[in-house]
Amino acid sequence: MRNFEYYNPTRIVFGKGTIAKLSELVPAGSRHLLLYGGGSIKRNGVCDQAMAALAAFDVGEFGGIEANPQFDTCMKAVDKAQQEDRDFLLAVGGGSVLDATKFVAAAARYKGGDAWDILKKWAPVEDAIPLGAVLTLPATGSEMNAGSVISRESTSEKLFFGSDLVRPTFSILDPETTYSLPSVQTANGIVDAFIHVVEQYATYPGPNPLQDRQAEAILSTLIEEGPKALEEPKNYEARANIMWCATNALNGWLSLGVPTDWAAHVIGHELTALYGVDHGTSLAIVEPGVWAHQRERKKEKLLQFGERVWGIVDGSDDERVNQAIRKTDGFFQSLGIGTRLSDHNIPSEACALVAKRLANRDMKVGEHADLGEEEVTEILSLRI
Ligand code: NZQ
Ligand code: ZN
Repeated sequence: MRNFEYYNPTRIVFGKGTIAKLSELVPAGSRHLLLYGGGSIKRNGVCDQAMAALAAFDVGEFGGIEANPQFDTCMKAVDKAQQEDRDFLLAVGGGSVLDATKFVAAAARYKGGDAWDILKKWAPVEDAIPLGAVLTLPATGSEMNAGSVISRESTSEKLFFGSDLVRPTFSILDPETTYSLPSVQTANGIVDAFIHVVEQYATYPGPNPLQDRQAEAILSTLIEEGPKALEEPKNYEARANIMWCATNALNGWLSLGVPTDWAAHVIGHELTALYGVDHGTSLAIVEPGVWAHQRERKKEKLLQFGERVWGIVDGSDDERVNQAIRKTDGFFQSLGIGTRLSDHNIPSEACALVAKRLANRDMKVGEHADLGEEEVTEILSLRI
């Protein structure tokens, strides 16, 4: 196992009725800014629960954060936080609201000039407003990690930054908040969590049996519980297990001491930036292509995945790898997600265009960091 260091200060408060605990979790006397998205929290009662818990606090509101949060919107929130001298940010929503809040936290205290540099140049984050979260969409793991992904419409960019200073001090995970999710977002979340796991698992074998089995446990649980939540949106146990899977999929544990891929994410982010396809959906399109293209180099892990997660034991190695890819693609489709570019009216020119944009940024992807323009074009061409 490779050396590693792990730090994660986020307090997880999990379960029914836990939004009421907000008053104990936020710093005494703090002046909050509550950030939210397009209004789902106003319709499903989550905002009312949060405001009731925070009745004794000074709480301002900033709404309108988009799915795939926009830099310009975040900067409006930065202005508000600064003008109102807010010293605690509370994100209430899905990954987009959490990511936006993390960026606002860092940008509001950034002294280096243009805050876009935090994303574009990975300018160091030296200070940030402390933040907490109430999660309403299990998918990204943002509730227990240091990452944030922000988009900029004017340049069609979608970029990532990470800092320990923007880790939530706490995250409330109440599975009942997810009852109101449209089925497409439930499905996107299941796929996103699934792909987070395989990006840290389906690489090449290493001496990491614990991480492997943790990964396989999350995948098997998502396969078991995902369809239940779609069939029965108010199935508490299914919602709870999916929520905990998604957090565990990207809170850093799975990647400790192991090689990681992230090709599907890097390529998927370009598809979202250019064509607006949802994040989870972009991954369901790309990952089967990455596996098919890299089948030789990923063979041993795909065989292990096929056997332990899908129970595939018959056939030659090649046949079993094919089955593992087909079963996974079929699982995403069974959740209602179109896994081809054409399902989303994305033209075949996207293959070369995405590859060119990554090449222009000198980006090579995959666990060997050697998949460049040609390979990315080939991968996407397998998904037309
Ligand atoms: O905006 P509102 O009205 O709240 O509606 C949202 C939005 O339309 C809705 N929604 C959320 N919770 C709901 C709900 N509707 C009804 N009931 C609820 N309980 O769902 C829609 C999508 O929300 P969004 O937050 O965009 O989805 P998700 O959580 O999938 O986040 C996606 C973003 O996270 C980034 C993605 O790139 C994308 O920008 N990621 C962040 C990561 C991280 N920070 O570590 C890693 C991921 O790989 C990912 O890149
Ligand atoms: Zn993701």
